[in-house]
Amino acid sequence: MPMSTLVRQVALEHPFQDQKPGTSGLRKSTRQFATPHYLESFVEAALRVVPGIEGGTLVVGGDGRHGNREAIGVISRMAAAHGVARLITTTGGILSTPAASHLIRSRGAVAGIILSASHNPGGPDGDFGVKVNGANGGPAPESVTDAIYAVTTSLDGYRILDGDPISLDHPGEHCLGEMAVTVLDGVEDYVTLMQGLFDFDRIGALLRGNFRLAFDAMHAVTGPYATRLFEGLLGAPAGTVRNGVPLEDFGGGHPDPNLTYAHELAALLLESDVYDFGAACDGDGDRNMILGRRCFVNPSDSLAVLTANATLAPGYSGGLAGVARSMPTSAAADVVARALGIPCFETPTGWKFFGNLLDAGRITLCGEESFGTGSNHIREKDGLWAVLFWLQILAVRGCPVSTVIGEHWHTYGRHYYSRHDYEAIASDAAHGLYDRVKGMLPSLGGSRFAGRTIATADDFAYTDPVDGSLTSGQGLRLLLDDGSRVVLRLSGTGTQGATLRVYLESFVAPGGDLAQDPQQALGALITAIDDLAEIRQRTGMERPTVIT
Ligand code: G1P
Ligand code: ZN
Repeated sequence: MPMSTLVRQVALEHPFQDQKPGTSGLRKSTRQFATPHYLESFVEAALRVVPGIEGGTLVVGGDGRHGNREAIGVISRMAAAHGVARLITTTGGILSTPAASHLIRSRGAVAGIILSASHNPGGPDGDFGVKVNGANGGPAPESVTDAIYAVTTSLDGYRILDGDPISLDHPGEHCLGEMAVTVLDGVEDYVTLMQGLFDFDRIGALLRGNFRLAFDAMHAVTGPYATRLFEGLLGAPAGTVRNGVPLEDFGGGHPDPNLTYAHELAALLLESDVYDFGAACDGDGDRNMILGRRCFVNPSDSLAVLTANATLAPGYSGGLAGVARSMPTSAAADVVARALGIPCFETPTGWKFFGNLLDAGRITLCGEESFGTGSNHIREKDGLWAVLFWLQILAVRGCPVSTVIGEHWHTYGRHYYSRHDYEAIASDAAHGLYDRVKGMLPSLGGSRFAGRTIATADDFAYTDPVDGSLTSGQGLRLLLDDGSRVVLRLSGTGTQGATLRVYLESFVAPGGDLAQDPQQALGALITAIDDLAEIRQRTGMERPTVIT
């Protein structure tokens, strides 16, 4: 019997107790993942729990960070040992999260395993992650991740095939034991999907003209996709895609497309007149930041603009079934939905809550304030899709980003919005602060706050309109009588200490002052929440680490 068909049973002395997946899968330091049997333990649990693994098709790939290829090797050999019929992976193991979602759906896979810690830094000193997606292409529901976790806590061993990993250098067909392995170009299927949604002739005409685009791939997974799309098919000049080669440590950067971590791109757009449009995506390609010349597009506004202009894109010319946003996202999209006469859903943070609404056909577009936007074309948020959507709108309307935004506010009003993050706070301090405010909620209704009155103070809970499930404890909300609000949440994705997120929002109707600086417009709310929650005092931080 050749070596590669030997299934080995590896015994574990003690199960790992810390493998509880968060909202975005199991995310830990690269070092933690390098612990012997750590990755294998979680993958074993996933392969035991996910329905249809034996005889099914599995998609595996990742964002190219340190450990990506090795993990694909391990997962392939474990998949073969668990009777997977076909494993689909990609050249170099490079597969963005949105492209993975599409492959799972288009190839009829029972699941996907995505290797990424999203926007967290990579490399030996960075983070790694494993996320399990289901057959609909979206993040596995809590029932599945809970079951996976339950298995890890009592696991006494795992099964793996002996032998060499297959080569990921070129597309091709291979065998691993009884399992067929397809290595394909991870970019192609995704690009074809985009061509079906947007008018490439029209966008190409824009990009071949005087319009100047700068796209920052942040040395992460979108580099090859963006280069093929913008510089290849759409004819933008070479150099349009910056930092386009995926690196295992993202060049030492923090691949999070916001004003702090994508500051070079932000400076190019906001402090010079060279470019008309700038965009960046995160580590695994599901987030996007949109910039115009001297104009930052707040992600909540971006969702509202896409909703208002959706029919300009061929893929959405028939109109929208509905739209959804996560609770901390501003209500800008709600106003547009009302005008369009379509429903708008408010869900907890995290993409999985959109999945049910998308699967049930209740919504077409959805988004989060954290630079995530998407649609029913897949079951993940999609960074490059959002960039193409914006380019489509600009190509049809023939005006700059600032005009699109200005006209939007003029029609619908402006939701001044900002998120203040306090990162890596001592866990005790963060929970102490949070629990104290939570305890105060029942007494806050009717009291004064930032010159307004608190109409409602609650901890957000969501009843899924499709399956009726209840999700509670999703963030502390202070809803004020003039429509403003402040929300406090603790991050579920950080890996160091705790991260407190403070979301601030205030609405100005058309005709009001639409041209203020957001931090100034929100100044009274910022001071009031610091007083109420004792943020500076309890975190020991004078200011947030990231302001968006
Ligand atoms: C963050 C974002 C959230 C997003 C998640 C995964 O989660 O705030 O909107 O869905 O990353 O990309 P958090 O760290 O706030 O729990
Ligand atoms: Zn991401």
